[in-house]
Formats: sequence, C-alpha cells, structure tokens
Amino acid sequence: MSLPTSDLKPKIGTAVHTTQEVLLSGQYAAQIRDLLEQRGVLLFPKMGFTDEQQLAFAQTLGEVIQQGLKGIYKITLDPKLNDTADYLHATTHWHIDGAQDTVPTRASMLTARVLSNVGGQTEFANTYAAYEDLPEDKKRLVDSLRVVHSQEFIQRALHPNPTEVQLARWREHPEQVHPMVWTHQSGRKSLVLGLTAGRIEGKSEEESRAILDELQAWATQPQFVYRHEWTVGDLLIWDNTGVMHRVEKYPADSGRLLSRTTLVGEEPIA
Ligand SMILES: [Fe+2]
Repeated sequence: MSLPTSDLKPKIGTAVHTTQEVLLSGQYAAQIRDLLEQRGVLLFPKMGFTDEQQLAFAQTLGEVIQQGLKGIYKITLDPKLNDTADYLHATTHWHIDGAQDTVPTRASMLTARVLSNVGGQTEFANTYAAYEDLPEDKKRLVDSLRVVHSQEFIQRALHPNPTEVQLARWREHPEQVHPMVWTHQSGRKSLVLGLTAGRIEGKSEEESRAILDELQAWATQPQFVYRHEWTVGDLLIWDNTGVMHRVEKYPADSGRLLSRTTLVGEEPIA
C-alpha cells in the first residue's frame, strides 16, 4: 500500500492525499522521504496540523533542528513575533537554506497560519531537474566549477551600494566554497546556486557573474518551478538539498504567519 498522490507539475511537486492520523503514525515515513527526494516538494493540502502535530510528524522523517519555540520557527516579518524577522527580507531571492554551511539542512516543512492579501506565494525550483536537462557540453563545463558562497552576496542583494563599514562587517562571516554540481550519495546530481553564490574560483568577477546569472536563469525556468498559492492549513515540505526557494514580496504588516520545522542535514555538499 502506498499513499495516493497527484503530481503538481511534471518536473516538480506532488500533492499527497491523506489524513493527520496516517501521517502521524509514521508508517509511510520511508515513502514520504523517497517521494520528497524524487519530486522536490510535497504538498498536503489543508492538513491543518497544530504546531505540536507538525513537530511530531517531522520527527517521523528525521532529526528536528531545535530552533524557535520547541522546534517551531515563526516565519513572519513582525519583529514582535520573531526577533530575526529582519533577516527574512532576503528570502524574496532564490536560495538554499544554509548554503554557507558544509551540511545544509535536509528539508523544511511549513504550515500556513495567516496569509497576506497580496504576495506571499512561495516558489520552488528543482535543481536536480535543472542539472539533468542541461545540454551535455554545459554539464561538462559546470561539473568542474567551484563557487564561493558568502554573507556578503546575500547582503548585497538588499544593500546594493554598501558602505566600507557594512562591507567590513559582512566580510567577518567566513566564506564557504561548494562545487557547483552536488553529486549526492545517491549518485544523482543537482546544481548549487542562489543568492549566496557570488564568485567562481579561478574566474574574474565579471566572468563569474555572467556564468552564475546564466545558470540561475536556466534553473528557474517555468518548467523547473512550482509556485504555491497558500491556503490556510496547507502543509508543504521541500527538499532543501535539491530545491531552491523564494517568497513573493508581501507587506511587513500583513500579518502573514507560517510555522516552520526543519530537519537536520544528512550529507555535505560534495
Ligand atoms: Fe529559506
């Protein structure tokens, strides 16, 4: 027996049709993990989990990162509810969570609590599919590239004309170098791109930017992207090791609120 599913787009996203009880039983955890890796995004429409249920479900899939209150991090731009809300403004740009770490988080799940009247849709791009569909000569080109990821590149997206003081502060954060192509332990390959990627080792700034921009545009073409229009109570999981994501801009005072639970990373980018 397997869970009933329907694909959202040919190359990314699958909706899973089931109940709270079935998910919380953990009996389909292996199927869900497998499906997540294959499809990048899993949607459980209007699942309606409480924070406690979401946490319990996450624990059937892997080890939960202890962040926020008991493993539930509040996604909101309201600084009264989240003292790191400021940081979330950068999430309107494509990124992989923890791309500045050696082992990025495995996956994250969100339950929508309050929606914004405008914006707030979340988009996901399948970086496995983007690599697999590259022409062979491009694959050979990117296979050997190594990319520098840093805080500076995130911040530059928000503050395009930084002062010397800002630059010096950003550069206090250590840089992280990753291969552009992640060869996973499964043998599958995905692209590692996004907001944190700023320079290619051994290339000039201009050449780096040109290559990164071209690949970023390739990887975020409509056929690789699923855009989620939220309904309150939706539960969605994305595979942070094979998907980039971003959110459509929404007003800071919109009240938009989602509960996020994140699974600990399991393999380094290599
Ligand atoms: Fe994120």
